[in-house]
Amino acid sequence: MAVGEAPGKLILFGEHSVAYGQPALGVALSKKVRVSLRRGEGRVTIRLAEGLRFPSDTLAAAPGALVKAALGADAEGIDADVLIELPPAAGLGSSAALAVALLRAKRALYGEEPLPFDQLLARAIAVEDLAHGRSSGLDPAISILSNVVEFVRRPGRTPRSKAELKVKTLAPAESFHVVVGVLGHHGGTATRVRAIAQLKERLGAPFDAAMRALGSTARSGIRGIAQGDLETAGRAANLAHGILSGLGLVSDEMEEIVRTARNAGAVGAKMSGAGGAGGAFFGLASDIRMANDVLTAIERAGAIGFVETAAG
Ligand code: PMV
Repeated sequence: MAVGEAPGKLILFGEHSVAYGQPALGVALSKKVRVSLRRGEGRVTIRLAEGLRFPSDTLAAAPGALVKAALGADAEGIDADVLIELPPAAGLGSSAALAVALLRAKRALYGEEPLPFDQLLARAIAVEDLAHGRSSGLDPAISILSNVVEFVRRPGRTPRSKAELKVKTLAPAESFHVVVGVLGHHGGTATRVRAIAQLKERLGAPFDAAMRALGSTARSGIRGIAQGDLETAGRAANLAHGILSGLGLVSDEMEEIVRTARNAGAVGAKMSGAGGAGGAFFGLASDIRMANDVLTAIERAGAIGFVETAAG
């Protein structure tokens, strides 16, 4: 038997605008996808951690399709056991983590050395693409590096190597907490990515200005976290949330729960990931008491929540 695992991710800044050449910042989560592979008959078992459920609609990525895409022609001779600790179809990177975990487990099953970053990233992007449309590479990059990650790619095409990307880990000057929340499902990344491309066609210049503004908030957020100025990062997150809302990516319920997080004391709060019908959001907190207050408030309002800490 061979095992592989990879963490989920939370995008702090840069969802959608990353596909238009703007910088993004994300953080790997302590919740993971774990895969066990053994030689067998192509049986695939997928389990979610307790309390989690798959969405009832069919728009979100099907994990079974990702397993087939990652194992390729060998799928029929391998049994796969998958445990997903992340709420699926929420924007917490469960598809990318599954792709990376599968590719790692497959190398281990064949007794091969782990792949270097470039190759693992290219293959993880290809697996995600096969299963559900084009990925910017942001999710698998954070999952592979398992850290706080800054990411920029050239606009317009899917990167196939590190040369087409600028990816680096960021060391926060001070520790901070991220209260991660999930409210329902976002309805599928590919659907939202298409809707945003259509909006660009329709709007033109104001759309481009919105992307530049999102890039600018991402740069402020990156600087804030790198310099230990969480207040600036929080304000930048609030502003980015407003722009994403104007792009049609924030539901009424999401708007309300992001306000709940701010009212409970979060230094800043915003939606995260593809967005749309629901999905992930976060609040920033400078100390654990503040984080627990925010967590209590969003759980009372009906979200699944947990706290992640980025060490300074
Ligand atoms: O699939 P999600 O919700 O983690 O969104 C990923 C971020 C997007 O920018 C919307 C898509 C991408 O591939 O970068």
